Amino acid sequence: MHSIPTEKLIDAKHLTRIYALGDTEVIGISAVHLQIKAGELVVLKGNSGSGKSTLLSLLAALDRPTRGELTVAGKDLVSASPAELTHFRREVVGMVFQSFNLMPMLNVFENACLPGLLAGKNPARIKTRANDLLSWLGLSQRFNHLPAQLSGGEMQRTAIARALINDPQVILADEPTGNLDSHNGKIVMELLAELNREFKRTVVIATHSNLADSLATMRFELQDGAIVDNAL
Ligand SMILES: Nc1ncnc2c1ncn2[C@@H]1O[C@H](COP(=O)(O)OP(=O)(O)OP(=O)(O)O)[C@@H](O)[C@H]1O
Ligand SMILES: [Mg+2]
Repeated sequence: MHSIPTEKLIDAKHLTRIYALGDTEVIGISAVHLQIKAGELVVLKGNSGSGKSTLLSLLAALDRPTRGELTVAGKDLVSASPAELTHFRREVVGMVFQSFNLMPMLNVFENACLPGLLAGKNPARIKTRANDLLSWLGLSQRFNHLPAQLSGGEMQRTAIARALINDPQVILADEPTGNLDSHNGKIVMELLAELNREFKRTVVIATHSNLADSLATMRFELQDGAIVDNAL
């Protein structure tokens, strides 16, 4: 395995994503420069439409840039092949969404295991890991529940277990507390911070909420697709 540069775990230069809508072009993000070291807890702020989700989708390789350079955990996401991008999405990054995106027909345990099984990992090892993660997340009593039988906080904690099952280096969370009350929002932010502190994962959180402010080691503000402020 090649070594991962810890100085610039995330390295974006002139990163630009322009959406084509008929004859018009909509700027998602424009010429973003971003250098993030391994082990940071990054909070991404900005008004609605400022480009937070666009940036996170590029970092997660769910979308490709229109222009610019982007390297995450040593992988050049601009030149990577489709197979390399699939591997990257499954193994290197874990994504947490506002709307949880759990599979409604699968129970908590199965949802948590799914990306591990899709990655072709040893099923017994994946089940052990899911068991450990779900217990750590306080879901020991919920293994057999379907998503519809969970509270919002429980759904998001299941989604966090799923995001962690393949032990990704980077966790990307897009408005993870947007559908939660403040109590559960606080629990989710503290879990993400614990992943950062105790397990040394790099965490990037796009959020309108102030819950992560005191936990962040870096803070960026986006405005109209550009970074305007990186004061902590
Ligand atoms: N698929 C798309 N097609 C066209 N325009 C898009 C698309 N996705 C996003 N945009 C536009 O790109 C800009 C940035 O959107 P983005 O979703 O990244 O903002 P955001 O900061 O995540 O906003 P919010 O806080 O509301 O989630 C907006 O002007 C938006 O309308
Ligand atoms: Mg968004």
